[in-house]
Amino acid sequence: MAIRIIVKEPDEVLHKKAKEVTKITPNVQKLLDDMADTMYDADGVGLAAPQVGILKRLIVVDAGDEHGLIKMINPEILESEGEQFGPEGCLSIPGWNGDVRRAEQVKVKGLDREGNELIVIATGLLSRAFQHEIDHLNGVLFTDVAERVYEFDPNRPPRRELENR
Ligand code: NI
Repeated sequence: MAIRIIVKEPDEVLHKKAKEVTKITPNVQKLLDDMADTMYDADGVGLAAPQVGILKRLIVVDAGDEHGLIKMINPEILESEGEQFGPEGCLSIPGWNGDVRRAEQVKVKGLDREGNELIVIATGLLSRAFQHEIDHLNGVLFTDVAERVYEFDPNRPPRRELENR
């Protein structure tokens, strides 16, 4: 278990496109494991490899639903359906939220930690997390796609609750 340092805005690595993973090595698997530890340590619902300074197409998500923790290599969205609109935050942009329009449901395909094909149909918060993390792999932050960005108010409910609305 290792917690990595989360890269924050305005680091330029956050704005670059990450490269496809062509070989699943122990290093890649260790990175996925560390990303999960780092995400939980920071109380996040997702993390993408560029957020720990590595331009590889790797994400971890856990929206606290029945899917649990998902570690995915080379994720891509195959289908999107419906719409949700609500607040979103990012561990790389602490203190800020934005209202972002996302698909209510996405079908995501990638590889799991062992290299097996993994297809997930995600709705609600998990769907939002997938879209947010896959954006990271393309150098896109929520502030690039939000209709409104505003300072997070600590007197309002925590981020996890806000995202569930
Ligand atoms: Ni983020």
